[in-house]
Amino acid sequence: MNAKELRAAFVEFFAERGHSKVDSSSLIPHDNTLLFTNAGMVPFKTFFVGDETPPYDRAVSIQKCVRAGGIHNDLDEVGRTTRHLTFFEMMGNFSFGDYFKSDAIPFAWEFVTGVLKLDVDRLWVTVHLTDDEAEAIWRDDVGVSPDRIQRLDEDNWWRMADTGPNGPCSEIFYDLGAEYGDDGGPAHGGEDRFIEIWNLVFMQFDQQADGEQIPLPKPSIDTGAGLERILCVLQGVDSVFGTDEF
Ligand code: GLY
Repeated sequence: MNAKELRAAFVEFFAERGHSKVDSSSLIPHDNTLLFTNAGMVPFKTFFVGDETPPYDRAVSIQKCVRAGGIHNDLDEVGRTTRHLTFFEMMGNFSFGDYFKSDAIPFAWEFVTGVLKLDVDRLWVTVHLTDDEAEAIWRDDVGVSPDRIQRLDEDNWWRMADTGPNGPCSEIFYDLGAEYGDDGGPAHGGEDRFIEIWNLVFMQFDQQADGEQIPLPKPSIDTGAGLERILCVLQGVDSVFGTDEF
């Protein structure tokens, strides 16, 4: 699959499941907590926090992103790893108070294993330390082997910026193989070996400047699936710079 085909497959998969197709927004956000749009959920922030009523309950987009400052600063990693970029595209499916974990997790798995046909034996999953519910869905509903599910702390809590929407998250990792680092899964193994390809954020809070966490009007879903990283896996190259995009 090339980049164009991956974009089309992602958008169609979620459109078939009731998601409205939304174009990428500008890299310059309408938001004074960010210099650049740093994730697919940024254009939807007002929907998550309840400041505006969305015209749809579900959306799918492929958002242009830049991470060059703030709490998601990939700039210092570029050129030092095979997977970090400043500018990249983030594929995302979003639920604004509609579906939650029990749909978002099977959607992700169906796309990754059914559409992309990634080798299940190479996939690992992480959940937040506190998230028994997500672990149970991965294990009991989706059928992921318990020894492929690990728990992380801060790495499995996603926030847009110092303030704003946030919540526990659950990530899918792809194992590039023994030649890329130590075994042990994403929690204990080599970070160049276990590559995060998909992040499901279970949005539940709106953090205030004083640290207070206000519950969102409704629990929501924000997905960040890195286009270039998934292309790496699909195209059998070990660097984002080796994909057809470059
Ligand atoms: N918004 C989820 C992520 O960027 O990973």
